[in-house]
Parts: sequence; C-alpha cells; structure tokens
Amino acid sequence: MIAARFSRIGFILAAAGSAVGLGNIWKFPYITGENGGGAFVLIYLMAITFIGLSIFIAEVAMGRLSRSDAVSAYESLAPKPGPWKFAGFTLLTGILILTYYPIVIGWVFKYIWVAATHLPTTVEASGAAFGEMLTQDASGQIFYFTLAFLCTFLIVSMGVKKGIEKLNLVLMPLLVIILLLLFCYAITLDGFDDALKFLFVADFSKVRATSVMEAVGHAFFTLSLGMCCIMTYSASLPENANIVRSSFTVAVLDTAIALVAGIIIFSLIFSFNAEPGQGPGLLFISLPPLFAQLGMAGTLGATLFFVAVAFAGVTSCISIVEPGVLYLTNRLNWSRPLALLAIGGVAYSLGLLALLSNIEHTGDSLKLFGMGAFDLFDFTSSSILLPLGGILVAVFVGYVMEKQKLEHLLLPYMHPRLFHCWYFSIRYLAPAGVVAMMINKLAA
Ligand code: TRP
Repeated sequence: MIAARFSRIGFILAAAGSAVGLGNIWKFPYITGENGGGAFVLIYLMAITFIGLSIFIAEVAMGRLSRSDAVSAYESLAPKPGPWKFAGFTLLTGILILTYYPIVIGWVFKYIWVAATHLPTTVEASGAAFGEMLTQDASGQIFYFTLAFLCTFLIVSMGVKKGIEKLNLVLMPLLVIILLLLFCYAITLDGFDDALKFLFVADFSKVRATSVMEAVGHAFFTLSLGMCCIMTYSASLPENANIVRSSFTVAVLDTAIALVAGIIIFSLIFSFNAEPGQGPGLLFISLPPLFAQLGMAGTLGATLFFVAVAFAGVTSCISIVEPGVLYLTNRLNWSRPLALLAIGGVAYSLGLLALLSNIEHTGDSLKLFGMGAFDLFDFTSSSILLPLGGILVAVFVGYVMEKQKLEHLLLPYMHPRLFHCWYFSIRYLAPAGVVAMMINKLAA
C-alpha cells in the first residue's frame, strides 16, 4: 500500500509531465517528418484515441484499484494466483528507456548553453556542430548525460509528493507558457502555412510500410504506456479524483503539445526550405540558425526554448524511474536510496554504451543486429517492449480482471455507454491494433 498521495491537480500535472516529454517535442516532429506528414498525423491521432486512451484508462484503473507497485498490482487484481504477476515486470522496459532518454536530455542541456552563448548562424554550421557533438565529443556528452541523470535521480529521491509533484507543479505551466509564446512567433513566419499543410493535409502516398507501426508505437511512448508508469503514478491518486476526466485531460494536453511543437518546428523548417525528414537531428539542427537571425531576442528565445524542452524531458524521465523504485521499496522493502542506486547503476552503465555507440571510433564495436546500441535500445523499447506491455494491460483488464471491479470504479465517472465503448476497445481494438502493428512490422 502506498502512503503518499498526489493532490488532484498534482496527479494531472505529474501524469501530463510524464506524457509530455522529448517524445512530443523531439521525436513526434521528426518521425512525422520521416513519414511524410499529414497522413501519419492522422494515423497517430487514431492510435491515441482508440488504443492509447483506452490503455491509459486501464493502467490508471489498475494503479488506483491496487494502490501498489506494478508487480503487486497484477498479482492482487488477478482473480486467482498465477503467472500474471510476471506481467508487472514490464516495468523493466524503463531501464532500457533510461539508457538513451537522458542522453537526449543531455543534448538539450548542452543546447541551452549553445543557445545562450554561440548560436550557429547557418543550417550547415548547425548540422556540422550537432554532428560533431554526436559522433566526436564523447566527454562532453558524458558530462551532460551525467547531469541529466543526477537531476532525475535527485528529484525521484525526494519522493512522490515533495519531489515529483512539486517539480511538475512548477515546470509544466512554465513549459506551456514558453511553447505558447513560440507558437505566436511561428504564426508570423513564412513557413507557417506550409507547416499546417504538412501536418494536417493527409497524403497517403507518402506513408511507408512501417508508418502504422511507428504511429502505434509512438502513441504508447508519448502517453507513457506499456511499462507501468501511469499505473505507478495512479497508485498515488487521491481518493476523490475523477479518473476518467483526468485521463482525458492528460491525453488532450499531450496531443495538443505535440501538435503545437510540430507547428513551431515545421514553420521554422519550411521558412528555411529545409528538409522535414532529417531524422533525430531535426530539433538540434534546424532551430538554432533561425534564432540566430533574431539577435539578442533570438538568443533569449532559443535559450528559453531549450529550457522548456529540458523541463519536458526531466519531468518525463523521473516518471520512468518511479515504477522500478516503487517495486523495490514497496515489494522488496529496499530503501529508496538503495533502489535508486541499483536502477541508476544499471541504466547509467548501459547508457554509456549507447552514448559511445554514436561516437565514430567506438561505434563500430558497439553494434548489434547491424544497429548501434543507442538505436537498438530505442527500437527495442518503443517498437517492441512497450507495445507488448500495452497488450498485457489490455488483455489483463479486458479478460482476466473481474468486470464488476472496473464498473464499480469507472461507472461513477463514465456514462454506461462510454464504459461499453471503452471495454470493447480494451478487449478488441487495443489488442488487435497492437497485433496488426506487429504483423505490419514483420512484413516490412
Ligand atoms: N512520454 C514521454 C515522452 O513522450 C516519455 C516517457 C515517460 C515514457 N515515461 C514513459 C515512455 C513510460 C514510455 C513509457 O517523451
């Protein structure tokens, strides 16, 4: 049983803080770029609505009903003892995400400094600087990666209420304000209309074979599903929270912020006639030169922008640590510092491997299945393990748990018809969507 409880707004902001992260501002725009824009956005929105939101509510229900760590949640909610408790170990996917996520936060930290002191003035110079950092500068990246790691673990060490809730109460509103300011600026840019067209006009000829899988995978990733993260936060839900409305609010906030970030970034891209499909470097290469054109105001704007991205990243990163910590402290009675040390130790070591796999002279020896460790960890977690975690939640809630428990919990907040839709979705749509995604992946 968990003693610490979020306040109502604290839960929404913490869950939104978890959901809104590098996935929204860094990953969503670049995978949208790679997958041709509007059609991909449409597939993604459908994946969020029909699959993501249902599983989100399912995870919230499991956390709220069990008020316990993920392994105990599966165990206590299963009608009879059995192997279901092992499904809780999908929280281990978090360790894999923790290997590369803080590396990217590290890049963002570095770019706060770059923005404040020496913004590159051309796209070419910017691309070269980013490439240099990524493939040559091991020590610099290790420094910022370590910093990101320490920030994350320091906050989690302060606990759910004093660390996680407090941080989100401050950083989330700041993040929204900064993005709105940048959005207003984007409206004034030449590329704004093209950005809207790119994001909202669907051209299915541009969709690749793997696009559907990527959209579903990202829907999981961006809502922080599939590794018991939302389940873990929901164990600390206040007694009287409207869990359906909270889930809906989080999904809407998350989607809105991804789209706003996409509009901002693609407005810049199209104003520069740059390529939208450049992959992971999009954020770090395309934005700095534009800010550089604006003199002092640009320096300030760029600094603020990367500060906002860092906020988004850190609030997400802490949520990836918490499921493991709760398992170790709640279930195995470890102390919080020991739990943090164990999780941190493993993730940090693997993270160094991931980081070095991008460095030119160490990268070749750190390849597996033809992929660098960084790409491999990213691919395995977001394209395979998270969906797998999601399907386990769906099958467990849809077929194993007693329906009565769910009705008792959800009907006060949901019209019975909506409950039926949700139940249908969790039993059929969500698992089918994930299976289709896997087939799609195998065929690709
Ligand atoms: N949702 C976050 C993002 O979009 C990342 C994240 C946080 C996450 N917690 C998670 C992803 C749990 C998967 C599972 O950046």
